[in-house]
Amino acid sequence: MITIVSAVLTSKLPSHNASLAGLHTFGIDCKASLLFTVKQQDDLQVLQELLRQYPTFLILGGGSNILFTKDYPGLIVLNRIKGISAQPDPDNDRFVLLTAAGGEVWHDVVLYAVQKGWGGLENLSLIPGTVGAAPIQNIGAYGVELKDVFHHLEALDLETGELHTFDKANCMFGYRNSIFKHELAGKYLITSVTLRLDTRPELRLSYGAIQDTLDAMGITEPNIADVSQAVISIRQSKLPDPAELGNAGSFFKNPEISRKHYEQLQMEYPDIPGYPGSAADLVKVPAGWLIETCGWKGRRTGNTGAHSKQALVLVNYGNATGIEIWEHAQRIMRNIKERFEISLTPEVNVI
Ligand code: FAD
Ligand code: EPU
Repeated sequence: MITIVSAVLTSKLPSHNASLAGLHTFGIDCKASLLFTVKQQDDLQVLQELLRQYPTFLILGGGSNILFTKDYPGLIVLNRIKGISAQPDPDNDRFVLLTAAGGEVWHDVVLYAVQKGWGGLENLSLIPGTVGAAPIQNIGAYGVELKDVFHHLEALDLETGELHTFDKANCMFGYRNSIFKHELAGKYLITSVTLRLDTRPELRLSYGAIQDTLDAMGITEPNIADVSQAVISIRQSKLPDPAELGNAGSFFKNPEISRKHYEQLQMEYPDIPGYPGSAADLVKVPAGWLIETCGWKGRRTGNTGAHSKQALVLVNYGNATGIEIWEHAQRIMRNIKERFEISLTPEVNVI
């Protein structure tokens, strides 16, 4: 198909039949009908025109939370808008408001803040992907979620072309959740995120493994750079590096079940772990434990399987297709349902 887009486009042609293999962390060999990279604000106007011709579209950041099960039959919009700026919080000068463009690499922003001595992001070190994707599932790790440092974001309404501001309440953040996965799914491109960081950082060491790692590092009076380093080292010890073994982090969310259901399971499985859920009568159970208990951990099926050090992470051993990984995920989901009466929900966006 020949695409005719207005003259604005000249130097910024989208590419047809473009490979997505290097643009997502599962490393599946697949293609998109059209790929357009947004690098600066001007490109957003071109995007508006393209979207009129290609109503089927998907925004892609680092592709670290996506599984492609087929070639994408539409427009992939690659967000690469860059830029970081900061200013004192006008409401309280103890804090700084750091604004990062949606196409910035999340971990680069974490390192920037850590280097400046601004606290809040260190526990979220080494999460792959872009800043613009971080609010979509309210990224979280090691006792902190994006919402804990979130101030506001700006996003382009893809229908009207207007820029809108969303504060924390507007985003309706939850565990791996936000309004952008529900009512506003596919309606906005997040162009920037503003974080409220602390110039007098308070360390968050509640996640046991951080303290243990700091102890092992021989650090008795940690600062945020030490916490960042501890988190990086924990993550590197159990999560596979997508550059070596394709994956998208936790494939499933940790399920929440009723306290009654949990207590019934405890009778049969006395060591089943459980953490406080989002309501008093709910218990969060680690999906990794459920998957390991069913014997999937480290077991390879064809070109895929649950990772040997973290059962919640499904990996591509090399030549897996997206369908193969998705079928394996469904096999695991059926098994967990049969054995524990628990429904797992994918965290990864299956396309
Ligand atoms: P993509 O995968 O490109 O996109 C994810 C979703 O966001 C898609 O629906 C996409 O359309 C949408 N999207 C992307 N950018 C925009 C934008 N600018 N505007 C609107 N929509 C957009 N996640 C955690 O929460 N905690 C972890 O600890 C964690 N660890 C991980 C470890 C590994 C090894 C890997 C591979 C992944 C991990 N993840 C983790 C998942 C992933 O890193 C996060 O979900 C991350 O925020 C995804 O960013 P991305 O840019 O790669 O998004
Ligand atoms: N567990 C097992 N076997 C496993 C893995 C985990 O039994 O193979 C059990 C253990 O009881 C362990 C518990 O699960 O103590 C928790 O494991 P871990 O600390 O590795 O965390 P997780 O619950 O598996 C979650 C997030 C991760 C995040 C870590 C650290 C979800 C779905 N996943 O994993 O996020 O990095 O906590 O905070 O909430 C991601 O979202 O992609 C992701 C990697």
